[in-house]
Amino acid sequence: MTFRNWAFSSSSNWGNRCISRIRCPAPLASSPLGSNCRDPQVSRSSRSVKNMRIGIIGAGFIGRAVARLAIQHGDEVMLSNSRHPRTLASTMVAIGCRIGTSRDAAEFGDVVVLAVPFFAVREIAADLLAGKTVLDAANYYPQRDGAIEDLDTRSTTTSEMVARHFKSAKIVKAFNAILEKDIEKDSRPAGAADRRALPIAGDDADAKRSVRDWLDRLGYDAVDAGMLSEGWRFERARPAYCVPLDSGRLRQKLQDAGTTVAEGSWRK
Ligand SMILES: NC(=O)c1ccc[n+]([C@@H]2O[C@H](COP(=O)([O-])OP(=O)(O)OC[C@H]3O[C@@H](n4cnc5c(N)ncnc54)[C@H](OP(=O)(O)O)[C@@H]3O)[C@@H](O)[C@H]2O)c1
Repeated sequence: MTFRNWAFSSSSNWGNRCISRIRCPAPLASSPLGSNCRDPQVSRSSRSVKNMRIGIIGAGFIGRAVARLAIQHGDEVMLSNSRHPRTLASTMVAIGCRIGTSRDAAEFGDVVVLAVPFFAVREIAADLLAGKTVLDAANYYPQRDGAIEDLDTRSTTTSEMVARHFKSAKIVKAFNAILEKDIEKDSRPAGAADRRALPIAGDDADAKRSVRDWLDRLGYDAVDAGMLSEGWRFERARPAYCVPLDSGRLRQKLQDAGTTVAEGSWRK
């Protein structure tokens, strides 16, 4: 475990409190597809990780659900949307988070959650997330985002496109394959028999470990599907998409990802 000191000084944020000392996760061994946070070494270490700072870009259904869950587990959260932070004043009170601009949230977070519609990713300044570990929760819905040939022909994945936009960010695809209504409800302590697993993918092993540790602390096992190029395995309409599964069954669904399920079946 490592310790870092912060003096929080930005005056442009709402709901600030001074943070003098915050614990951050130490790097752990990487996990290929099939491993998860039941690894005793991972669980032992991640249980002692506290008080991360989470910046969230997008304060809609998924951004707010992740904010509530993170705050319940002791994290400091800043939410932002596409408008002036004052539009989030009631959300700040309801959730107990800070609010700011997207740039404020990006600067604030040890980890930044990108929780915007896929079409909006390219509207966000590419330099905003430089050097950051970013959880990419975005999904591609052609009806909402417009048809994107490279995705329709499967020549790339949504998170690879996100990574190309935010060139020097460490993108980890996560939180895209769980419905917002399930995010708080399905969280369980480590070792619970009915603990749900969430798929992740990413090209940076350290960033992926940090995300895996964080998910573990929030109440989820993580199953590593591989690089961002493998992210299609849990994109929209794949068997692993937004279905509650334990780590063993999720691993199987990721391996059997070549088929699709009926549009919207995951909402039933
Ligand atoms: N809903 C789910 O169950 C679920 C589950 C998994 C993944 N996802 C994915 O997560 C993403 C967000 O979904 P959602 O349901 O939370 O959407 P949503 O309720 O429509 O919220 C979208 C949020 O993104 C913000 N936003 C849009 N453009 C922005 C920009 N340029 N800069 C900063 N913020 C911007 C919006 O701000 P304004 O309010 O100012 O417009 C809004 O707060 C989508 O890609 C979705 O597919 C959703």
